[in-house]
Amino acid sequence: MHQNLHFLIIFSIILTSILCYVVFSLFQPSSLFNIGFLNQILPQNPFPSPGCDYSYGKWVWDETLPDRRYTEKCPFLDPGFRCHQNGRQDLGYRKWRWQPQACNLPRFDANDFLERSRNGRIVFAGDSIGRNQWESLICMMAQGVSNHSTIYEEHGNPITKHKGFLSIKFQEYNLTVQYYRVPYLVVIDHPPRNAPKEVRGVIRVDKLHWFSKKWIGADVLVFSAGHWWNQDKTLKSGHYFQEKEYVNMTMSVLEAFRRSLNTLKLWVTTNLEPGKSHVFFRSYSPIHYSGGEWNKGGSCNTSREQETDYSKLGSEPPNNIMIYEVVEQMKSAMTRVKFLNITYLTEFRKDGHPSSNREPGTPVGAPEDCSHWCLPGVPDTWNQLLYAELLRTEFRKPNSC
Ligand SMILES: *[C@@H]1O[C@H](CO)[C@@H](O)[C@H](O)[C@H]1NC(C)=O
Ligand SMILES: *[C@@H]1O[C@H](CO)[C@@H](O)[C@H](O)[C@H]1NC(C)=O
Ligand SMILES: *[C@@H]1O[C@H](CO)[C@@H](O)[C@H](O)[C@H]1NC(C)=O
Ligand SMILES: *[C@@H]1O[C@H](CO)[C@@H](O)[C@H](O)[C@H]1NC(C)=O
Ligand SMILES: *[C@@H]1O[C@H](CO)[C@@H](O)[C@H](O)[C@H]1NC(C)=O
Repeated sequence: MHQNLHFLIIFSIILTSILCYVVFSLFQPSSLFNIGFLNQILPQNPFPSPGCDYSYGKWVWDETLPDRRYTEKCPFLDPGFRCHQNGRQDLGYRKWRWQPQACNLPRFDANDFLERSRNGRIVFAGDSIGRNQWESLICMMAQGVSNHSTIYEEHGNPITKHKGFLSIKFQEYNLTVQYYRVPYLVVIDHPPRNAPKEVRGVIRVDKLHWFSKKWIGADVLVFSAGHWWNQDKTLKSGHYFQEKEYVNMTMSVLEAFRRSLNTLKLWVTTNLEPGKSHVFFRSYSPIHYSGGEWNKGGSCNTSREQETDYSKLGSEPPNNIMIYEVVEQMKSAMTRVKFLNITYLTEFRKDGHPSSNREPGTPVGAPEDCSHWCLPGVPDTWNQLLYAELLRTEFRKPNSC
């Protein structure tokens, strides 16, 4: 009797191991994946195709979409992104799904992402569009958690644009997802003593923001920049570029951007562990002001249809090419660096901005918001791409056996 029991236990351990092995090797993208029956039992290709370019494709109307997404009730949304609550009636902008040309995007699996991220840290560093994407990801991930009280801001801060640093804890997973507001990535400072008097502030292109100390050790880092690198916010408002102790009065905005990216590159390659951290630089998120600039009556509510006319899409922003090049250079030192190219797909979505449906308390006649995004909305797709890229690099692949 006793021996039988022992035999049974040993036998079941062996059986489980074999099963585990078989199931796991079936689920490796590299192995038996191309077997026909697998494609039939797995309705949506769960593994990203190795070489597929997610950045190119088209938006398709999908009636089923909102049902599978979080809603505006997600407690981690900034009031400014809850467009329906702020009066927006046409909700078609939630029904577009991005379809890459050559393959399908893997379905965003909140549970899988949470499991992979357990005991980890995800960092978003950038301007407010970065916060937009960060909030989207938190709401997407929160769908995998039944008790939302176990997800909270670590310092009790409200999720608003007024905070420079926010850290959301997913208690059950010992995971934090953080946002650091660094519109230029590098330091903004007072002018040095010897500076000409027209210098009201400086952007120190050779000094990464102080926050960078806190990014070391993160498992995933998503950088972004672009919207603050324009004439109005820099030179025209008296903010010049500084290198070492010297304010360079002739340095152009684009050159300063390039130097700042190099500063980031140096930081990434000296401070991050190549095998551990997955680094992304998200490409430029297009704005859609028509009939004037943002502060001169520009609008994006004249037609709330997405753009279908390719000829009306903007050309590649010069920032993107610089980001792309710097990412390529980082790759020689870091294996897991990726240029997250969302510019083209986002160009089509002039319908996705808050426009005149801005947060409560916005004065009448305030400029429209044609640069941030309604949530749920377009940044969800950026995060789907982020997830797909992480799957591709086998981000902390869970191994339950
Ligand atoms: C980003 O993706 C679009 C669409 O595939 C492509 O046309 C563009 O060249 C890409 N940009 C960069 C800098 O790679
Ligand atoms: C939580 O995660 C951190 C790493 O982010 C780790 O150092 C710590 O030990 C974890 N705590 C528990 C209780 O597992
Ligand atoms: C949800 O989580 C909170 C905080 O951990 C806890 O106090 C509460 O009892 C939980 N509720 C349920 C229904 O589990
Ligand atoms: C100022 O910046 C420009 C590049 O924009 C560079 O060519 C020039 O040498 C710099 N001036 C000094 C004094 O460093
Ligand atoms: C567009 O915005 C203007 C002013 O911000 C407003 O008067 C108008 O009603 C809006 N149109 C639509 C279709 O929302």
